[in-house]
Amino acid sequence: MNPSVGGELLRAPLFHTPRNPFRDSSALESYQDGGLLIREGRVAGCGDYGILRDANPEVPTVDLRDGFLLPGFIDTHIHFPQLRVLGGLGRSLLDWLEHCALPEEARMADHSHACRIARGFVHALASHGTTTALVFGAHFAPATAALFEAGEAAGLRIAAGQVLSDRLLRPELHQTPEQAYRESSLLIHRFHGRFHGRGRSMYAVTPRFALSTSEAMLEVAQTLLREHDGLLLQTHLNENRQEIAEVARLFPWASDYLAVYERFGLSGTNAVMAHDVHPSDSELDRLASSGTAIAHCPSSNAALGSGLFPLKRHINRGVRCALGTDVGGGTGFGMLKEGLQAYLLQRIAPDGMLLDAGHLLYLATLAGAEALGLSNEIGDFRAGKSADFVYLRPPADSPLAAVLEREQSPERVLAAIFTLAGAESVREVRVEGSVVHRSVAREER
Ligand code: GUN
Ligand code: ZN
Repeated sequence: MNPSVGGELLRAPLFHTPRNPFRDSSALESYQDGGLLIREGRVAGCGDYGILRDANPEVPTVDLRDGFLLPGFIDTHIHFPQLRVLGGLGRSLLDWLEHCALPEEARMADHSHACRIARGFVHALASHGTTTALVFGAHFAPATAALFEAGEAAGLRIAAGQVLSDRLLRPELHQTPEQAYRESSLLIHRFHGRFHGRGRSMYAVTPRFALSTSEAMLEVAQTLLREHDGLLLQTHLNENRQEIAEVARLFPWASDYLAVYERFGLSGTNAVMAHDVHPSDSELDRLASSGTAIAHCPSSNAALGSGLFPLKRHINRGVRCALGTDVGGGTGFGMLKEGLQAYLLQRIAPDGMLLDAGHLLYLATLAGAEALGLSNEIGDFRAGKSADFVYLRPPADSPLAAVLEREQSPERVLAAIFTLAGAESVREVRVEGSVVHRSVAREER
């Protein structure tokens, strides 16, 4: 498949969720003999192949009928310096931070190490079909710059920021608020909205969590957001009971965890807060009314024993939710796997929601675009959007290929993809019509 300037018509079964399935039961759209018409990096049409071909006879067809097209995945919570601590099972959040994550994050002071990890990190995103990610950078500005550079070299959409902390981690990970302001401002000037002039790189102000940020540091976050247009804000919220108790001790004036961030103007439609496993009803109502999005990270919540995410309470109270892998507290880069984990954990949660394949696709794509304020640009295949997509084709001898041999409904096919597909099925990934990842199958070598 080579992107051609005059356009191309990709012929494949395709799925997307141009609407929110939590509100609209017909949100999942699929075309068994689908067509995706691409011109100059944009989606020019999506629907039945035959109709698109007849309307655009001059456009060459690329036959991809042995696979599937999905919108590129959008990971709304992931940590770049934690690539190498994946798999650190058996600990809870604060213990895991101290013994697994933070010692590794301290290594980001070594710039050549940071550059190497950054390249591996963006490769892992692309090879799993993730085209956009909201990423916790490093505590060190040069390492965070290395992440942006690697993302741009790979052609991915990366929203990220230097991680801000001035207490309770390890001394080498702390900055003073003045230093954080100075270094973050420089990174914002360097990277925010850069890359082909369309903002494929975005800056996200990133106070790590209330536990590791003093009031002075949270004020820096507020100042940065006031001084620059279009920044995102990312942090952690209500992940673990011990963490929540410590936050209450450190901020005795705050009525709850969210109130700490609210005091500094850090909630709102540009804010994405990860986890929120243990919210109060009042916090949910305030998240909904401010438009703050929650990055739901089911693998991490299970791996770190944080708890079962109350998805139904979030949805019923109108809180926007998307999915995050939370590498390295989570279990890997696969957004399909993350969707499956969300499904599985909701199945066993006491008041869980029964999710179908359309919910999972929405959570892995358009919901992320909405959380990042990018739903005019990415998240589904509506005409005019950027042609960000993943082409999946399971290996011939795989269980998924066997399942797909049977005649099945589109919903069952999509459910089987979420259940069984991993990076081995990701054959090509594009952003704005340009290839950012391509793999050669074993059987093709
Ligand atoms: N809270 C503060 N830092 C972290 C982190 O690195 N991972 C997770 N899961 N939670 C956090
Ligand atoms: Zn996290």
